[in-house]
Amino acid sequence: MSEVRPGWIVLKFGGTSVSSLSVWEKIAAIVEERLRESSHVLIVHSALSKVTDQLESLLRTLSEAQRSETPATDDVAVDSVDSLLSKLRQRHWQLAEELGVDAEVALGKEWQLFSDFIEQLRTSPRVDDRARARVMATGELLATRLGAAYLERLGLPVVWTDARDSLRAAHREAARAKAQYLSATCEFAANPTVDAQLRSKGRLLITQGFIASDSAGDTVLLGRGGSDTSSAYFAGLLSAQRLEIWTDVPGMFSANPRQLLGARQLLELTYDEAQEIATAGAKVLHPRCLLPVRQRAIPLHVLSTHAPELGSTRITTAPVNDSAQVKAICLKTGVNLVSMESPGMWHQVGFLADVFQIFKQLGLSVDLVSTSETNVTVSLDPQANALDESVLENLQQALAGLCRAELIGPCASVSVVGRNIRGILHQLGEALELFKEQRIYLVSQAANDLNLTFVVDESQGERLVEGLHDLLITRVQDDSVIGQSWSRLFKAEFEPVLTAKRPWWRDRQTELQALMNDGRDAAYVYDLSTVIERCQRLRALSAVDQVFYAIKANAHPAILSAVVEQGLGLECVSAEELTHVRECVPELAPDRILFTPNFAARGEYEAALAQGVYVTLDNLHPLRHWPELFAGREVLVRLDPGSGRGHHQHVRTGGTQSKFGVPLWEVPELVSLAQEAGCQIIGLHAHSGSGVLDVGNWRQVAAALASVREQFPDVRIIDLGGGLGVPERSGGPELDLTALDGVLADVRRDWPSVALWLEPGRYVVAESGVMLAKVTQLKLKGASGYVGIATGMNSLIRPALYGAYHEIVNLSRIDDLDTGIFDVVGPICETGDVIGHDRVLPRATAEGDVLLVATAGAYGASMSSHYNLRAPAEEIALSARDAAPPGS
Ligand code: LLP
Repeated sequence: MSEVRPGWIVLKFGGTSVSSLSVWEKIAAIVEERLRESSHVLIVHSALSKVTDQLESLLRTLSEAQRSETPATDDVAVDSVDSLLSKLRQRHWQLAEELGVDAEVALGKEWQLFSDFIEQLRTSPRVDDRARARVMATGELLATRLGAAYLERLGLPVVWTDARDSLRAAHREAARAKAQYLSATCEFAANPTVDAQLRSKGRLLITQGFIASDSAGDTVLLGRGGSDTSSAYFAGLLSAQRLEIWTDVPGMFSANPRQLLGARQLLELTYDEAQEIATAGAKVLHPRCLLPVRQRAIPLHVLSTHAPELGSTRITTAPVNDSAQVKAICLKTGVNLVSMESPGMWHQVGFLADVFQIFKQLGLSVDLVSTSETNVTVSLDPQANALDESVLENLQQALAGLCRAELIGPCASVSVVGRNIRGILHQLGEALELFKEQRIYLVSQAANDLNLTFVVDESQGERLVEGLHDLLITRVQDDSVIGQSWSRLFKAEFEPVLTAKRPWWRDRQTELQALMNDGRDAAYVYDLSTVIERCQRLRALSAVDQVFYAIKANAHPAILSAVVEQGLGLECVSAEELTHVRECVPELAPDRILFTPNFAARGEYEAALAQGVYVTLDNLHPLRHWPELFAGREVLVRLDPGSGRGHHQHVRTGGTQSKFGVPLWEVPELVSLAQEAGCQIIGLHAHSGSGVLDVGNWRQVAAALASVREQFPDVRIIDLGGGLGVPERSGGPELDLTALDGVLADVRRDWPSVALWLEPGRYVVAESGVMLAKVTQLKLKGASGYVGIATGMNSLIRPALYGAYHEIVNLSRIDDLDTGIFDVVGPICETGDVIGHDRVLPRATAEGDVLLVATAGAYGASMSSHYNLRAPAEEIALSARDAAPPGS
């Protein structure tokens, strides 16, 4: 048996960790184990989950009743206070029953004190902070009474202790009276008296988080994250040998696992790294709890009460490895920036002091700062500041005397956190490309060299985290710090979630493999069920009158038939596409075909007009030079919305650099040319680009059209283009169709008499298609190297042309977890013939294996070529009827 060491282990359990019998069973087992290890164990725990919120609403109800001068003894208020009280009582009594303890014995006295106190408050003129603190403390007091009773019932030698007897609030200035009761800080220097007092009570103590007392003996609270902080204070006072924080998740992760299932468990961190991650947005630990343990070099472990077997993050002084390494990508949203512009500040003494004085006066805590000769930009952290409009207005007014202040927000701050960040700047090269399309408002490199932070538009935050994580962390293998991914740790739990989003090809693996056993080397395979499902999603957009599928994305005949059968029209951009449509879906009426060419020759317009399809003009040239073609015709015109959007600069189709659309300043001329030609403009069209995930795009496009609508009295159609994006990586952010529908509904409200059209391509087909290719050759260098496949940029040019990312898996070894890192290349004689760079594939990948390149249904085959005289991959459509039921 291992030796019992003298000294304390402090265990902290959060709200969800103490709210049911099943977790208490786990706590009991943990405590028994710790008692075998150490002479003394102190449990610090929170109120049952949601109880703190309920106490807050109780206080609000009391205060409201007092403000409205309706004494809380009035019927309505009494009702509400009483019902809140009875809910609280019921919650605790119920758990008591579940835990098999006598509620009256365990809770009766504490409850009586509490309800007497509430009775007093009902008749008092106002609930002050002192009373507020006393009420809020009840959650912890009751919960720990239950915990003690349960452990006692199991025969453990537990003693309930009042935290207020040991934790003393540090003295604060009177000016900060509010903080005095609601957000106090405590002494945490080693305190032999407290140590002796607690030791004398027994080997196993249970006490409350979040509460302490002041020198007058009043109850005070420790503010947000208070229970973590309490446990760290106790660890400091008692010189504990270890603090363990037990929570919902097994430690700290390299990103928020709720956003990114690939986030990795961080096995070892130093205090300063943990502090940095906690401050940069991770919610597992409250940043305040680190100081006490850090100062005393007390190891801090973070574990999951629900799954202790999944390991922990261990936080200590000594880094396991001192070399430069990125450990986490953190995201904070709701960040506001204040940009202060003043040409006069250059070399001016005291400008910053004056500016920061104003922030101080308004009680605003500044997070990041960046300066230039004429501008100082600072960020305000929403967690540290209550930023309502009036606060920001006051700030702007106060700054007006010193500089021109602009508020920018809401923004997201994305931080790359790790050790010696300056030492790895060179590795960030590829990662920094992610910022190519972003407006970066502020970059800040922390003085302690532990983080590099970018502030961007809030809507871009998640996408950036995902991209940076992928480049800087996902590839790390066999590392002493970066452990398993969340989805691997919780495989069993997440399998259903993952299967819900499981791509179709996962369920048709055998079929796909069989297609390739048929002597093929490469093939595009389309799943028509997926095409149909995407059409149905688009048809369900309530604000849209007609959807035209942009066939340039994929003009396979089976896809065109499926799309038309689902009620979509087709959008074509060349005379050849029009002919193809007539051949593939001859039954399609001309008014369900839209012709939107760019710089097409006169003959193409003639052909389209002769067929009676809708025609869109996107330049003045046709009206200037061939007006007779359009006499007596109705046309749509494509306008340039002024700025472009999209996944790459080649696919952004707005603004002066783009060849598309009539610029808004040419509208008067357009109108008069159309009049002279005797042609009626019945529709306005704009398309800003392709691969857009931010629904604000379509609001902007509509606004650009709306800005000139007065000049087009005959308009009855607005076409907001395509561009609807799909996630590049599985599990990545998706286009929020509900939000898009909301945006479009707003457009309809502003413009009630017009029909609203969309013309998506990618959204309909991208995820329905995969490209399969056999491995031809390998060039290996240890666990990395090149995997050659039978087709390359002649079939799929997107990676070479746009740096596009397509997920690649080895279909023949899909469950092989022993992986290496490879470049996947084709047989074309160009250095750019790389389908995937640095991809994780099984080390055992061998000639003849089938690799699957995902999300290749759009702009894959349709952009393929015979370069090097190599035929592109053939196309196969799997009919919807063949679809195997999920899971079969
Ligand atoms: N409407 C117009 C006027 C367009 O120019 C386009 C695409 C679309 C609709 C359909 O856009 P979608 O919904 O597919 O984003 N080859 C590039 C995409 C080029 C898009 C060209 N225009 C790629 O592989 O990403």
